[in-house]
Amino acid sequence: MKLLAIETSCDETAAAIIGYDGATVSVLSSIVSSQADLHAKWGGVIPNLAAREHVQNIIPVVESALREAAITPTDIDVIAVTEGPGLIPALLIGVSAAKTLALTWAKPLIGVNHLEGHIYANFLNSPNDKLRMTNSESISENRNLQTQSKFEIQHSKFPLLALIVSGGHTQLVLMHDHFQYQLLGETDDDAAGEAFDKVAKMLNLPYPGGPEIGKRADEFRIVNSDSSSNDELRVTNDRLKNSHIQSKFKNRNSTFIFPRPMLDSNNYHFSFSGLKTAVLYFLKKHEGEIKNEKFVDMVCHEFQEAVVDTLVGKTERALQEFQPKTVIIAGGVSANVRLRERMKTMVAQYPDYQFLMPPFQYSLDNAAMIGAAGILRYARMSEAERATLKVNALSLEPSAHLPLQ
Ligand code: KG4
Ligand code: ZN
Repeated sequence: MKLLAIETSCDETAAAIIGYDGATVSVLSSIVSSQADLHAKWGGVIPNLAAREHVQNIIPVVESALREAAITPTDIDVIAVTEGPGLIPALLIGVSAAKTLALTWAKPLIGVNHLEGHIYANFLNSPNDKLRMTNSESISENRNLQTQSKFEIQHSKFPLLALIVSGGHTQLVLMHDHFQYQLLGETDDDAAGEAFDKVAKMLNLPYPGGPEIGKRADEFRIVNSDSSSNDELRVTNDRLKNSHIQSKFKNRNSTFIFPRPMLDSNNYHFSFSGLKTAVLYFLKKHEGEIKNEKFVDMVCHEFQEAVVDTLVGKTERALQEFQPKTVIIAGGVSANVRLRERMKTMVAQYPDYQFLMPPFQYSLDNAAMIGAAGILRYARMSEAERATLKVNALSLEPSAHLPLQ
């Protein structure tokens, strides 16, 4: 069975060909054309600009995916497309393209939730090839960056606890089986990725802010690491306690410069807007330092520690309460090196629990993850259920706030 997947929920135009033989899911090709450079000028994604770029890119990206997988449209059994959540102008392009292809090629069409795609990225083993390509380079020039590797879907055990952290979402979700979701809690305001992006803006760092803050925080930790101890957080705080920086910037009530929002609350809600405001006030108080690279690195590190402490702490609380067999992280922020290592260390304290994280290539938006979820959903459907998918070629509509269900 072969599936064409399309993803355009934000600022990446992506298509992938996925194969399934009843046991193994293979990514036969995965093409991503990123618009990040374009939106960087504006400091964030402009929905109509994203849509215009998707219009230009969608056909070449789909053609490229077919060519890389060395298949023709007749080989395709089903098409999957991201239905939501996401930016409506952006989603509309992918959904319209998928509907047109489904109608023209007479294929069933399945709508996939973007967050479900991020979860299913965890079950893909890492390919060796590079996946992503930038929009500034043409698609034909980048063919060598495309993926044509086969790799299996990893075996997962349920119940499964998923921490979803992206530009638009921060959620803790419990899965009792494939495609069964129980929302434990989510953010009351900003998403984790959004907080990274907004804090980066305050520090005059380029968009998207998450990778840039991550890089600077890593740099800070390398420069200030103490190899005699494994507890990096304690080392950092001890170091800061004695340092010029800490004596200058120390918060009177805490050893931390920034708060860990809702970490102690007895629920699974998150809130990042207060942390963002704390960074803003801190920067206002120390305006003169903002051009000091070392100061910026330290703020990135401290901010990242506050976010990671909160995410790991809340996940551990859910792990203790619900005792899942598998813990995973999903969404763009799952590319964060510090979050990956801290989650791994936390879950390793509980020997019976399996921890999965997506390969770096599949942490950020891509169509392979949409295809992996789509093909497994399709494979589980009865003939009658599959027959109902035909109507999607005419009726599927994007949904900005599509819930995970
Ligand atoms: O999943 P994603 O690619 O798009 C959405 O579905 O929103 O996530 C994008 C978000 C952005 O906010 C970006 O800053 C963040 O993921 N991000 C990171 C890192 N890489 C991407 N945040 C922290 N550290 C990173 N390394
Ligand atoms: Zn995403």
